[in-house]
Amino acid sequence: MTPAKLQLTIDFTEQELALGRQIIETCRDLERRGLNQGTSGNVSARLGPGAQDGFLITPTAMPYDVMQPGDMSRVRFDGGHSGRHEPSSEWRFHLDIYRTRPEAGAVIHTHSGYATTLACLRREIPAFHYMIALFGGSNIRCCEYATYGTQELSTLVLKALEGRSAALMGSHGLVVLGPSLPRALMLTVEAETLAMMYWRAAQMGAPRLLSEPQIAAVREKFATYGYGGAADSGPP
Ligand code: 13P
Repeated sequence: MTPAKLQLTIDFTEQELALGRQIIETCRDLERRGLNQGTSGNVSARLGPGAQDGFLITPTAMPYDVMQPGDMSRVRFDGGHSGRHEPSSEWRFHLDIYRTRPEAGAVIHTHSGYATTLACLRREIPAFHYMIALFGGSNIRCCEYATYGTQELSTLVLKALEGRSAALMGSHGLVVLGPSLPRALMLTVEAETLAMMYWRAAQMGAPRLLSEPQIAAVREKFATYGYGGAADSGPP
């Protein structure tokens, strides 16, 4: 999709500015935890349930520590965007996730160390630990490499995310979706922790994998633990 012309407006509503503040808090939290730094990665949040509402996303190439709520870019579902800055170069996969995954209220992309290490090896995270069930099934898949910011990358990411709320991106990083910013942040931390534990276990041998019925049993228990029900339900 060709991006529609940038509209240089800063007519954000109070609600949009509040969402912008939440996005920045999430970015700074990711940075404090060492999951992103500088301008790596990006964060977005859906504006509302309506088809034309679109989402707010971090601007491209702006360090998180200087970002202000009014710096966010508003992207519509037709790919048009407005704001005083260009949206993140990865707006395409954020847009495609919101379009195809109605449960997605927020999307986080990181270059976090352990997840990216596995992604550089094209290694998915298998069911070596029961917490993998938090992401919708028995693995977190890894997609092939494509240039950042391209439709090709978005298509690969979407496929790897089928039935899952996280995916590794070949030679690139991690992408996570959740119903809200806090939930997406929590899932990002969990995905990076699983990547770290898998990497460590793999140093010592071949980690034992849980079976499909064992993972199904955990998913069933997660449905009544904390948030309940959703594909990514589980411990808060
Ligand atoms: P942006 O600054 O355009 O969001 O790009 C950072 C990034 O991580 C690209 O994948």
